[in-house]
Amino acid sequence: MIIAIDGPSGAGKSTVAKAVAKKLGFSCLDTGAMYRAVAWQALADGVALDDDAALGDVARTHAIAFGHVEGDPVPRRVSIGGVDVTDAIRTAEIDRAVSPVSAAPSVREALVEQQRRIGRAGNYVVEGRDIGTVVFPEAEVKVFLTASDEERAHRRVRQNVDRGVGSIDYAEVLADLRRRDAADSSRETSPLRPAPDAVHLDSTGRYIEDVIDGICELAAQAKAAEPAAQAKAARGVPASQTVRESEEARPARDGGPQEQDAAPERPAAEASSAVRGTVEPE
Ligand code: DC
Repeated sequence: MIIAIDGPSGAGKSTVAKAVAKKLGFSCLDTGAMYRAVAWQALADGVALDDDAALGDVARTHAIAFGHVEGDPVPRRVSIGGVDVTDAIRTAEIDRAVSPVSAAPSVREALVEQQRRIGRAGNYVVEGRDIGTVVFPEAEVKVFLTASDEERAHRRVRQNVDRGVGSIDYAEVLADLRRRDAADSSRETSPLRPAPDAVHLDSTGRYIEDVIDGICELAAQAKAAEPAAQAKAARGVPASQTVRESEEARPARDGGPQEQDAAPERPAAEASSAVRGTVEPE
């Protein structure tokens, strides 16, 4: 099963994607980290950020890898060309460089191909901007996660303070989020926009665990609807449409998501970040 979570920077996609993956025992793919890694490599190699062909070469020739701690489906480290760039891709310099890099069609082509290969290998929560529209239009669950600009900027500042990386100036962070939203939404290739069949969730002022539970519930409904979805897929109807129909058919909760039974126990520290509503902007 693919759970696609799209939305603008700072909406809480990473926090939510990781928590949903842990609850359901799914793997998790942060596609933004892949674009950031290519931006880091392009800067390291002195590649012009408006040179589509050269950026495409960077994306094709440097392997991106995610490092896992044993038993944890959520990756902790990311590397490109064998260099660990986990922290290096979170700087303000990369925040700026990643917009032109992610707008380059040849980069998108290379990374989308890799994302499909990774995601098709198992049950995945995949987060990004174009997951429900381009990468996995057949995803069983599609969520478009948003939050107000101000809340997203506050979250990002808190995260930068915690990480010790990136700007901690609220006005600068807010301006950068808005600049990236505009760039992500207006670019020609795969602009940020909700899939027509995505479920819209606004995390502003909400407990993050409610958002997480809501997505787990959608996954449970999709799983319950699987035989119908498969029959529809054979007739060319997107699977996520079946999820929405099943939601309409079953408005009341009925005992919780099936996959939760199989979910691994979360360590206390990780559980508390979800329970207390801490949101890490992506
Ligand atoms: O989610 P993030 O902020 O780490 O993403 C970094 C940049 O990559 C962001 O400016 C948008 C872009 N991106 C994209 O174009 N498509 C994706 N699927 C994921 C991210």
